[in-house]
Amino acid sequence: MDSIPSRSPLHGRYLITGASGRLGTALAARLTQAGAEVVLVGRTAASLAGARRTLHPSAAVEEAVCDVADASAVWALADRLHRDGGPFQGIVHAAGQFASGRLFALDPPVVRGILDTAVLGAHWIAQAFLPRMVARGEGQLVLVAAAAVAPGRGTNPRGTSVPYLVAKSSLAVFAHALDAELSGTGVSVSVVYPPTFEASARPGVLSATAVADALLALVIPGASAVSELVLTPVSPQTGPTGE
Ligand SMILES: NC(=O)c1ccc[n+]([C@@H]2O[C@H](COP(=O)([O-])OP(=O)(O)OC[C@H]3O[C@@H](n4cnc5c(N)ncnc54)[C@H](OP(=O)(O)O)[C@@H]3O)[C@@H](O)[C@H]2O)c1
Repeated sequence: MDSIPSRSPLHGRYLITGASGRLGTALAARLTQAGAEVVLVGRTAASLAGARRTLHPSAAVEEAVCDVADASAVWALADRLHRDGGPFQGIVHAAGQFASGRLFALDPPVVRGILDTAVLGAHWIAQAFLPRMVARGEGQLVLVAAAAVAPGRGTNPRGTSVPYLVAKSSLAVFAHALDAELSGTGVSVSVVYPPTFEASARPGVLSATAVADALLALVIPGASAVSELVLTPVSPQTGPTGE
């Protein structure tokens, strides 16, 4: 397992949604290696257990089953986690659903899954968890959008789908609007725009670990100076999905 060279130890509790996915698992590894305590959130115990197995056995990790599109489930999760443990220093909302293809071919449950997980999920998480951060005067919420909707990129529908682009654009608007609303509270909301990434890097395609490393800069205590982060691989993007 890689270690992080010359990085300051992280103390504090972090929550990752989409923790059983490529980015969530890589980020959990980086955060726990850096000394943080991490709550892994996903919809199934089996997928979370799989993510847990990729982490060091001594890592401070808790698994929490929750569908972030379900407001009452997110509130119940926040109440339980705050009752049973300390406050959260940072939350990364990496849960996401993806579909390619033309809008007319997408089934309504697929459209709903994309939008509800990203956009409503961000709302419920912010409403359920951020008031406690504001009360402490410290904390970070990071939303994971996509390079396809990064500033200056316009929308690039190549290979993606309308609801995916709408969901990711909405996360950027959400981050900027809520960050402005929370100005002066010590709590920041930022957005990251990763290009297509995979579990392992290949030419022109970032690894999930590379994205996680970049994300760490947004969740360290006091990280309020960066409001958005656009990631671009060194060589031209050739991924099939255009995410
Ligand atoms: N991979 C890319 O190339 C790429 C590029 C740009 C942006 N992104 C974005 O980066 C984030 C992470 O991508 P990834 O490739 O790591 O994703 P992934 O491997 O497909 O994993 C997605 C994760 O989201 C979880 N999830 C989905 N719906 C959920 C819900 N309603 N409630 C709770 N958890 C839910 C899944 O867990 P369960 O299914 O177990 O619940 C899984 O852990 C996503 O937001 C994605 O849109 C990805």
